Amino acid sequence: MDAFVIKGGRRLSGRIRVGGAKNAALPLMAAALLTDEPIVLHDVPDLTDIRSMTRLLAELGCPRDDEDAERPGRMRLRTIDRSLIHARYSLVSTMRAGVCVLGPLLARRGRARVAMPGGCAIGQRPIDLHLRGLEALGARIELEGGDVVAQAPHGGLRGARIFLGGPFGSTVLGTANVLCAATLATGTTLIESAACEPEIVDLAALLSKMGARINGAGSPRILVEGVDALGPAEHRVMPDRIEAGTYMCAAAITGGELALENCPVDALMALNSCLESVGVGVQTTGGDDPMRARVRITPARTLRPAMVTTQPYPGFPTDLQAQMLAMLCLADGNSVVTEKVFPERFLHVAELTRMGARLYRQGPTVVISGVPGLVGAPVMASDLRASAGLVLAGLAARETTIVRRVYHLDRGYQRMDRSLASLGADVVRVDDRDLDRIDE
Ligand code: EPZ
Repeated sequence: MDAFVIKGGRRLSGRIRVGGAKNAALPLMAAALLTDEPIVLHDVPDLTDIRSMTRLLAELGCPRDDEDAERPGRMRLRTIDRSLIHARYSLVSTMRAGVCVLGPLLARRGRARVAMPGGCAIGQRPIDLHLRGLEALGARIELEGGDVVAQAPHGGLRGARIFLGGPFGSTVLGTANVLCAATLATGTTLIESAACEPEIVDLAALLSKMGARINGAGSPRILVEGVDALGPAEHRVMPDRIEAGTYMCAAAITGGELALENCPVDALMALNSCLESVGVGVQTTGGDDPMRARVRITPARTLRPAMVTTQPYPGFPTDLQAQMLAMLCLADGNSVVTEKVFPERFLHVAELTRMGARLYRQGPTVVISGVPGLVGAPVMASDLRASAGLVLAGLAARETTIVRRVYHLDRGYQRMDRSLASLGADVVRVDDRDLDRIDE
């Protein structure tokens, strides 16, 4: 397994282009199951989760048929076999987003068998809202051997009024599932308390190009008029707001300056407001499209503390909580971070403490007493964003930080080590067996 060896203390500086969004690309890929025509996607990031989804779609009779090294980021998917309906546990357990094949399979093939994803490092992750939404469209759902087995009624799914709110707000992938299923249902579907995340807007944009009739995506109330069939489409995946936000925080924690291109600044208002409140400059310097802008990050003279509460979009994203928390460890004063989407998502807290951070956790809230500096240490976290938070802490810490199990990072960041090195960081990827030999 690979690890990052980070020698901290260098200010980041330079330019970076934000890639296509993992969390947009995964449901966009699953939407290819809704038609027999080709779906062509551009700006698909080269990540482990994307490769797992490609494998899953191939197992479901919808292979990628364009391995074209000349055009990285382009992906063509086409359904060739509609008899395959089983998303196996071995794939869904490595990538929870595998669950978003459920709605498309049910809508187009009338049935689906998808392994229950189970919990993961960031806490319990139920799919009751997904299932409730699909049942409202008429599906019969049973649990068999750990799989969700779903069957559409004779004559197909029927439009309905569906409420997708849960104890922690709406559900992003649940909204994607119900939205996809509703495009081919008979009649009108109203999704109330739909997720408003920009990734849902991107999915609705692709579905509309395929011929779906959707209104209100991006608001909590989405209206879908079912159609008989969907056709081919070509679509460019939206830029990754979490990748952009992570590099913004990386610049901020090192007191660096960074220019971002292809930055979805319009989808990062909560982060920007937070960065500005701690003293970091965020300036849009160009680009006509606020979802693909040029943005400049300038350092704070002194990092001020902040109160941050994660919430569903447009609130502060849970996927940037660990990165922000790492930064606030170095603020001049006390900060408070509260997690309202995944209340257990604090795997980074114990590890940051090993680097000299002063953190006090009580349930979903962490109080951070800022320290003047962090000290490098060997650390590890089995969650993608927690690992990103540890890398950021390592960039700012004195001496050497070793972040183990970076395969978690590879699920969501395309070669983060290379990107950070191109901005002046001292980060090297090593095989952690070599580290063990050094330790001995
Ligand atoms: C998506 O997960 C993202 N994943 C997550 O990003 C992200 O953290 C999350 O949305 C929230 O923004 C992808 O897009 C692939 P939810 P999702 O259903 O859709 C509860 C990353 O690091 N809930 O919106 O699975 C749930 O437990 C990943 O890139 C129910 O109660 O998240 C949570 O508390 C991690 N019942 C809240 O809702 C349900 O049926 C929001 O979860 C579904 C969810």
